[in-house]
Amino acid sequence: MQGLEGFAEAREGGVRVLVPREELYRRPDGVYEPAWAPVFYNPRMAFNRDIAVVFARVYGRLRGVSRLLVAEPLAGTGVRAVRYAVEAGAWVVAGDIDPLAVEVARRNAEINGVSGRVLLLNMDANEMLASLRRRGLRPDIVDLDPFGSPAPFLDEAIRSLGPRGVVAATATDTAPLAGSHPRALRRRYDVRPARTAWEKEQAVRILAGYIIRRAASSEYGARILLAYYADYYVRVYAELVKGAGRADESLETLGYGLYCPGCGYTALTREEPSLCPYCGARPLVVGPLYTGPLCDPSLVEEMKREAESLSSSLAAGDRAARFLSAFLEECTITRPYYRVDRLSSLLRTNMPSPRLLAERLRGMGYRASTTVFDPRGVRTDAPHPVVVEAVRSLSPSSRGGG
Ligand SMILES: C[S@@+](CC[C@H](N)C(=O)[O-])C[C@H]1O[C@@H](n2cnc3c(N)ncnc32)[C@H](O)[C@@H]1O
Repeated sequence: MQGLEGFAEAREGGVRVLVPREELYRRPDGVYEPAWAPVFYNPRMAFNRDIAVVFARVYGRLRGVSRLLVAEPLAGTGVRAVRYAVEAGAWVVAGDIDPLAVEVARRNAEINGVSGRVLLLNMDANEMLASLRRRGLRPDIVDLDPFGSPAPFLDEAIRSLGPRGVVAATATDTAPLAGSHPRALRRRYDVRPARTAWEKEQAVRILAGYIIRRAASSEYGARILLAYYADYYVRVYAELVKGAGRADESLETLGYGLYCPGCGYTALTREEPSLCPYCGARPLVVGPLYTGPLCDPSLVEEMKREAESLSSSLAAGDRAARFLSAFLEECTITRPYYRVDRLSSLLRTNMPSPRLLAERLRGMGYRASTTVFDPRGVRTDAPHPVVVEAVRSLSPSSRGGG
């Protein structure tokens, strides 16, 4: 293929796309490095794109939108844009600042017979979103899938929406979001930094809270439809509806996250407490962040059914259906998960199985579930002393009579 020698066709979900030939861009350890390729393509993000396709199909249907318009201003090879068009029947405006990316994306739209429904623009992302607004094109979904943080693109994404629409944002700057780079966290997201034991949820809630704050400044209320952590990224789907009153209401969902390094207590609160209510130690406090449910359960239930029916054609097979089904168990418990290993070590006891701990708490009448965010985590609404006691009684050393 002229000018695209370093590319080869690959299959992802329901599309065939030209992507960089992996064997040309391997690190010395043999692992493919997407950032080294002339146009960015990461096959490990196929699951992220599966969920995006399922979301678009279900959201469009529930809203009764006949011509779903998706904007994707950081498109890379265009695989996501083409998947929205082919697998969700969407109309797509996609762009990239790199002319080669746009050329590849154009070919990819052609290969899949959707050139008429995928408009490709070689533009800076913010410029592309502003140009949609000028042309009166109001997307139903703006998908931001940048290198690192979506923060520099959020304001234009929000302003490009009509009275109602969704911002779907990926963040791969998980080290700042999870509290490992406190200054970057403060700079990018205007958040008081801390590193809690539930760092993956902290990352998700900070991004969700930041979207809510940015939306409010443009007089949109924001409702979190789905917000999760998978692999090495955060992904948030927020529905924005215009209105100053709605913006005020959604600001009410913001608060702070707590983690007590003394006794392992975790909580989300509106007010900032100075001392841990259980052990009196000074808790770590992070925020502002989003304190509400991490999903709209009826939408996610519908997405789960959709993912089940599509599983043979999705790139990651039944992973989306399994993930959504597991997430439904936990996403309406508005309390950060416990890292069972960290709590056990504070209690100087061996770590019980998170699955058994969740079962025990459910048996006591509380809501409890393992978490898709972390295999060592349990999310529950049980009071802290109940969780502590359950960990103690289940720990292998206690059962052994120790
Ligand atoms: C992570 S990649 C996109 C991957 C793609 N969304 C996917 O699902 O495969 C980010 C892309 O953003 C592009 N980019 C970086 N800065 C940009 C900017 N200011 N405006 C538009 N595109 C930009 C890069 O050229 C790169 O192709």
